[in-house]
Amino acid sequence: MPPICQICDGAVEEFLDLGRQPLSDAFLTEQDLAGEFFYRLAVGVCRSCTMVQLVEQVPRDLMFHEDYPYYSSGSSVMREHFETTARALLARCADEPDPFVVEIGSNDGVLLKTVKAAGVRHLGFEPSGKVAAAAAEHGVRVLTDFFDAESAAAVQHNDGPADVIFAANTICHIPYMRSILEGVDRLLAADGIFVFEDPYFGDIVAKTSFDQIYDEHFFFFTARSVQAMVAGFGLELVDVERLPVHGGEVRYTIARAGARPPSDAVGALIEAERAQGLADLVTLRRFAADTARVRADLQALLRRLREEGQQVVGYGATAKSATVTNFCGIDSDLVSFVCDTTPAKQGRLTPGTHIPVRPAEAFADPYPPYALLFAWNHADEIMAKEQGFRESGGRWIQYVPEVHVS
Ligand code: SAH
Ligand code: TYD
Ligand code: ZN
Repeated sequence: MPPICQICDGAVEEFLDLGRQPLSDAFLTEQDLAGEFFYRLAVGVCRSCTMVQLVEQVPRDLMFHEDYPYYSSGSSVMREHFETTARALLARCADEPDPFVVEIGSNDGVLLKTVKAAGVRHLGFEPSGKVAAAAAEHGVRVLTDFFDAESAAAVQHNDGPADVIFAANTICHIPYMRSILEGVDRLLAADGIFVFEDPYFGDIVAKTSFDQIYDEHFFFFTARSVQAMVAGFGLELVDVERLPVHGGEVRYTIARAGARPPSDAVGALIEAERAQGLADLVTLRRFAADTARVRADLQALLRRLREEGQQVVGYGATAKSATVTNFCGIDSDLVSFVCDTTPAKQGRLTPGTHIPVRPAEAFADPYPPYALLFAWNHADEIMAKEQGFRESGGRWIQYVPEVHVS
């Protein structure tokens, strides 16, 4: 029996197997090592609705809990991106007498703090306790719960309809999509908008960024698959916008069917996806072959450097790096430690491969000859602040879109 599509019950055809993988954000203490959780990470495409998705689900409470360690405000570029985004969302509901903005996956309040500062009624759904508490410290109103059909109905009952429902890097995390879209249908005002942005499958294929695939990233959206996904819920895709953040994303704007005319950008992106062959097995199998090539190149480079006695340090203990290190067999023998600014990750071991995570200051103490940039999506920001590394003779290793040293 092939796996079943979580959107339409169609048959899912697997095209890439990334093997046995740990929870990507489970940074471990020594005591955690014995009970580490693993699952099989593989991706397929629905032959009916074209949605690309994981073939195995990880239970949500194993990923999103009190100690979830990802803090959205850790990047200055992302802080700026979400401030700009919040202002744009506020402008879109400025004509309402008492607008209400809801965010799904509000994390540490990186977006809603701007909404709060504008004095606009808002609510964030954020199940992960400590990041939700960080938002509350900024005065952001947070419900420490998962958004779904039931919790959305309760908010509609107490607060009334939402003019804007926003989500960034969260909708693609949620396999129980029918409950989400039912919740949007219950909570959204008649002329409201549901806006979400997530890594774009077109960019993932174009850049061979296979590290975007991990437990938390369940769906890999295209304009075509999102259009089909929302149509069954009386909703319509009315706009798409490509974004440069996180290696290439798309922001999808959804309205109630017939409420707003779709922009030309929707048809244009769907046409571009057809030309790129994003739903064709030949393209997907080429992506799998490209992924295998990147793995071979990265393994060869790291092994050569080890033989030459050259130290390599990882930069950014990202969730994405769990896929790279576990798929490529990169342990502390090849990468001696990973530095990261997040206190919740420091002093711990990377999932599956058990590489120590150290504070960012460890990078310059002293600079290593080579750094493997796991947080490649933040390359401009990181290279700008780590100019001393290059000046010391250090070189960056990257693997997107292919392995290169610079
Ligand atoms: N929006 C932020 C955070 C993305 S990380 C940003 O773009 O940086 C994804 C977040 O979604 C996590 O904080 C996780 O706890 C939360 N999340 C996961 N499932 C959720 C659900 N069903 N409802 C609301 N939030 C959810
Ligand atoms: P990110 O790539 O945003 O997400 P994911 O974990 O989903 O792959 O993670 C960036 C990580 O890199 C995060 O742990 C913070 C860290 N980081 C630094 O250590 N220094 C920096 O300058 C930046 C921007 C991020
Ligand atoms: Zn389907």
